[in-house]
Amino acid sequence: MKRRQFTALTLAAAGALGGPAVLAQDNTFKIGLILPMTGPQATTGRQIEAAARLYMAQHGDTVAGKKVQLIVKDDTSLPDVTRRIAQELVVNDKVHVLAGFGITPSAMAVGPIATQSKTPMVVMAAATSSITEASPYIVRTSFTLPQASVALADWAPKNGLKRVVTLVSDYGPGLDAEKFFRERLMLNGGQVPESLRVPMRNPDFAPFLQKVRDIKPDALFVFVPSGAGAAVMKQFLERGMDKAGIKLIGTGDVTDDDQLNDMGDGALGVVTSHHYSANHPSALNKKFTTEFAKANKGMRPNFMAAGGYDGMRVIYEAAKASKGQGGDALLAGMKGQIFESPRGPMFIDAQTRDVVQNIYLRKVEKKDGQLWNVEFDVIKDVKDPGKTR
Ligand code: DHB
Repeated sequence: MKRRQFTALTLAAAGALGGPAVLAQDNTFKIGLILPMTGPQATTGRQIEAAARLYMAQHGDTVAGKKVQLIVKDDTSLPDVTRRIAQELVVNDKVHVLAGFGITPSAMAVGPIATQSKTPMVVMAAATSSITEASPYIVRTSFTLPQASVALADWAPKNGLKRVVTLVSDYGPGLDAEKFFRERLMLNGGQVPESLRVPMRNPDFAPFLQKVRDIKPDALFVFVPSGAGAAVMKQFLERGMDKAGIKLIGTGDVTDDDQLNDMGDGALGVVTSHHYSANHPSALNKKFTTEFAKANKGMRPNFMAAGGYDGMRVIYEAAKASKGQGGDALLAGMKGQIFESPRGPMFIDAQTRDVVQNIYLRKVEKKDGQLWNVEFDVIKDVKDPGKTR
């Protein structure tokens, strides 16, 4: 039988059995991208969607012979909504993979759905250590707060910052940042006279900052989610805390590239630790930031965009390996991927399904009239310290 005849017969049979839906499913590879597109985490959604679309523009919209269909849904960062959308994407749209997840509670809410339906789930933003344990189908391309925090707790006491107050958002990633920063600083001979927690939603930093001012530590370590950093910076400066001799340090969420350039010169000199800076000096990152800006009215990609872009890479390469199949074959293709990201080298540990990556120490500097997180040191191939305990 000639190949053409065979194909025609197979298609006819498929049509008789299941109608056009079967054909459509055979010819598309569906990615359900759930993001906060509105509400306080909207910048996370905007960054990740832009990065996913850039990846597709650069790498084509077919993979393993199938047309890639990106279905973007807004969960407004409410976990009940994330769960309902995930259910619909799995049951009605029959997506091959779920992706996105702007905040930890949204990722945690979908874990059971991924497990029951055997749908791989790529966490591109949320960063509490324990997320990857919520389902064996979860793979992460963002980072973890323990991963980012420990490097700064090693740097601080060597640089004269021995008494450090911590101030974190009162939920998963904040509690991880607080615990791992504090334990490591104390191990290094430092002290944490106070650990403050602010509500995740609508935080008022003023009373907390007043308390910090009264304690007068060498430094204030901050974790707030992407989008909240500028408010912390503004109030820190308004209260003259820098002039009172208190240094602001934190994970890179505080000097978020999405907002940094609008924070003003008061941000100069702030030291943070993180996995991605738009200023990372590599040819691949230069290409990424240039093409991202070009496609998005000059927007600068932040660490959320890096997580989204690399998440698409992990999905595309896994789809090639699984020949376009979903489920366990797709998951297997995600595990153990090793590649160069705009952030630097990156590895998906097959055992933990979590990201192993470099963590950089960075200082805010002005270059060509713009503020950047300029990397000045690197700790290579950092595994999530939250998993080795
Ligand atoms: C999480 C959200 C963020 O915006 C961020 O910068 C880090 C962590 C989270 O909810 O896990």
